[in-house]
Amino acid sequence: MNKYAIPIIITLLISGLNAAAQGGNRFFPEKDLITTGIYYYPEHWNENQWERDIKKIAGMGYEFVHLAEFAWFKMEPEEGKFEFDWLDKVMALCAKYNLKVMMCTPSAATPAWMRVKYPETFVMDGHYIRAEHGTRGLGSIVNPAYRRFVAAIVTEMAKRYGQHKNVIGWQLDNEPDAKPDYSPSSQEAFRQWLRNKYKTIEALNAAWGAAFWSQWYDSFDQVIIPNTNLVGWWGNNPHALLDFKRYSADAQAEFLDFQAATLRSYISKEQFITTNYTAVSTGADPRRTNKLDFATYTAYPNGGTNNIGELGFRLGNSKVILFAAEYYKNVGGVSGVMEIQPGPVNWGSYNPLLLPGTVRMWLYHTFAAGGKLASSYRFRQINYSAEQYHAGVILPDGVTPSPGGEEYMQFMKEIKALRKQYKPGATMPATLAARSTAILWNLENYWTIDRQKQTWQWDTWNYPIKFLEIAKSFGAPVDVIPETADLSKYRFVIVPAYEMADSALVKKWSEYAANGGHLIITCRTATKDRMGHFWEAEWAAPISTLIGAQVKATDMLSNSGKGEILMGSAHYSWNNWADLLAPDKNTETLAVFDNQFYKGKAAVVKHKVGKGSITYIGVDTDDSKLEQDVLHGIYTGAGATTENYPPGIYVYWRDGFYVAVNYSSDNYTMNMPATANIMVGEKILQPGGVLVWTE
Ligand code: GAL
Repeated sequence: MNKYAIPIIITLLISGLNAAAQGGNRFFPEKDLITTGIYYYPEHWNENQWERDIKKIAGMGYEFVHLAEFAWFKMEPEEGKFEFDWLDKVMALCAKYNLKVMMCTPSAATPAWMRVKYPETFVMDGHYIRAEHGTRGLGSIVNPAYRRFVAAIVTEMAKRYGQHKNVIGWQLDNEPDAKPDYSPSSQEAFRQWLRNKYKTIEALNAAWGAAFWSQWYDSFDQVIIPNTNLVGWWGNNPHALLDFKRYSADAQAEFLDFQAATLRSYISKEQFITTNYTAVSTGADPRRTNKLDFATYTAYPNGGTNNIGELGFRLGNSKVILFAAEYYKNVGGVSGVMEIQPGPVNWGSYNPLLLPGTVRMWLYHTFAAGGKLASSYRFRQINYSAEQYHAGVILPDGVTPSPGGEEYMQFMKEIKALRKQYKPGATMPATLAARSTAILWNLENYWTIDRQKQTWQWDTWNYPIKFLEIAKSFGAPVDVIPETADLSKYRFVIVPAYEMADSALVKKWSEYAANGGHLIITCRTATKDRMGHFWEAEWAAPISTLIGAQVKATDMLSNSGKGEILMGSAHYSWNNWADLLAPDKNTETLAVFDNQFYKGKAAVVKHKVGKGSITYIGVDTDDSKLEQDVLHGIYTGAGATTENYPPGIYVYWRDGFYVAVNYSSDNYTMNMPATANIMVGEKILQPGGVLVWTE
């Protein structure tokens, strides 16, 4: 057996946060606030330009260089033959110009020789067509040969650079996405995952409801990965598909943990291990890893979508960093952006120029949300290949900073000035702490709802983000947390469309409210058990006592249909989703339906529980006005003051600094004390503007 051979790890069931891995912040001295870096691919350029480039990177103000991603062909030009002299030269140049290095494992792009001799190292799609060499992200992460090669290259890199003083840390792979893999290796790994989970085939048949359409299995060997491409999304078993998502996410996490464990045997304790998930990661679940120090995300807010107001198409989608910065903080407690769009990209529906200031605003947004590192893809715009139209921070001439590059330089200069103003030990102002909010969210609910949306108007990904935006409009500090987190830290906990639940979780929610918390639960919560089955009981049975009402039925309208709602004397409209509620005796009805045949039925209810309260919002509206007003009543009723920031104005507090960004198309005048000390920007935030101040 090859010395790198590893068994396929089949125990993929263990998931959840590793509490021990919450210490990612130790790698980032607080006084540095945020550290910046840039992706550099020396293998794309003539060696005689390397020194010029590295010197330029340092001169622009970057603090680290990101190296070796996708460079497998150069580090292992033939099977088992490793060459690092070229990388050593680049490392020496980085040291010469005082730049740290973030090393990246190259597993996302395999060399041509591997495909010739080991074609099984690639994923297969749902038609059993095997992927091939020539692009990236298509390795079959459960294939033993691929795993052997990854172990080998990661080991060689770790031995060579694991004790290197200049290496601050490692990024694993690239944008892990738990790709569906229908290859023979994956079929076998999936069956093994099922054996571990269900133990008996009877248990699987019950969980999958396999009596339906003669799906019944006599043994695990008969099971295949449910093939969405062949059968169609509506005709497949949702429980089997949910397990396939879980298996794929577990396999992805286990692959990252396997790389991390390989590195750990060689690298210094001063080097961190992370990976870079996409901001909108619908397959990979960062919370399932337990050997990484923290998770980072990649942010490409502008891919040619409309966004807020007439300038929105240049400013980008304000929700991207907003959500990712909070969500990825769950792992290791660090927020960091590994790639940030430096200008127009090549893959948007169209790729306009960014409004001047936009890249800087995105950078400040990541900083505001607690970011400890901000890196950008990429240094030089490449003159050839698939991404030749993609901006870099340097133009195709190789030497001139692009507009995004200029903005990076400005940001780095300003951060260096802010570091001088940093005072350790600042605590969050009481007005902000009084608004502290958590949003409970997990990918499993995304998977199950998105498969059975019931109405195309349901926007599964953005539904929790709508509540994040509402809480931010109040100026609240908001965390996006897993259900295992301690809720007692938060005055308000929002549970948006948490479809799969169990009685233990509902008990936890109930205790939170009894102890003085304000719980807000929305439609589509606890309607299914953890396998995605309905309860053999009333609708949403586990929460009916909790919310003090029964969900009697659900309605939805066409997109032009107009459902009306009355709350006090205020009128609202809806057409996406409406739960018709029957409140208990002691439950207050906050809003009722005001048309349709069920006019007068309750839509939003609230009741007191112990020292706190529980509100159930049974409606999803397009403009969110109803939800906004309901939440406003809850916050003010609980004694919290609120701001009223318009869409796209986000204000944060971190390390003693207030930071505001403007994604809207209008000027916004910040309401701040006359004594406030403005450090960056102006009181009137222009579109794409930023403001940093202390009070
Ligand atoms: C990212 C990816 C990078 C680069 C970039 C282009 O998603 O991680 O490698 O391809 O997109 O925008």
